[in-house]
Amino acid sequence: GGMAEEEIAETLDALEKQAEGCRRCPLWKDATQTVFGEGPRDADVVFVGEQPGDQEDLAGKPFVGPAGQMFNATLEEVGIDRQRVYVTNAVKHFKFEPRGKRRIHSKPNSGEVQACRWWLDQELTLIQPKLTVALGATALTALSGKTLPVTKNRRQIVTTESGLRVFVTVHPSFLLRIPDKETAARERRLFAEDLAAVRDLM
Ligand code: URA
Ligand code: SF4
Repeated sequence: GGMAEEEIAETLDALEKQAEGCRRCPLWKDATQTVFGEGPRDADVVFVGEQPGDQEDLAGKPFVGPAGQMFNATLEEVGIDRQRVYVTNAVKHFKFEPRGKRRIHSKPNSGEVQACRWWLDQELTLIQPKLTVALGATALTALSGKTLPVTKNRRQIVTTESGLRVFVTVHPSFLLRIPDKETAARERRLFAEDLAAVRDLM
């Protein structure tokens, strides 16, 4: 028995239903719920983040918190309709450290990323996007199966062993952590230029 003999889902809805009960790694235990990807099955572009944050964990939807607002604003700025793209994460449960009443985001390890690829791979198999966008290092590692530097590959397309075309950019939450105002503004502009390049590839 076990999850590996699960029936292969034929729709995103069926896949999402399966993922609700996932126990492939320990992260389901402390999280509120599985945060599955969101968007149309026929999307040309799939955006992949790291993992849900505090607000995503509570809402059950990807990219609705501060990083999501930054992401949405940039999509809008470059003229990409979020309704027409599929947005998901490499890891589908929120990993955190409790600190008082707050829950502090903690990075998924490679075992968790590896375990959760079960879902990401199936999302991509069902959608067959023309382009997959890795938002940051965790997504890039999950998609490529190896450690590739984001900076060196930024705004380029990496073709993975499975034939996936992966456009590389930073994670929007990186933009929220830059203390210097000018640097932050410059990085936001670079991120918008990255997403404009994605738009031109759509
Ligand atoms: N950061 C992510 O990587 N994904 C989300 O859904 C939210 C924040
Ligand atoms: Fe399953 Fe992914 Fe959640 Fe781990 S993080 S329990 S692999 S859905």
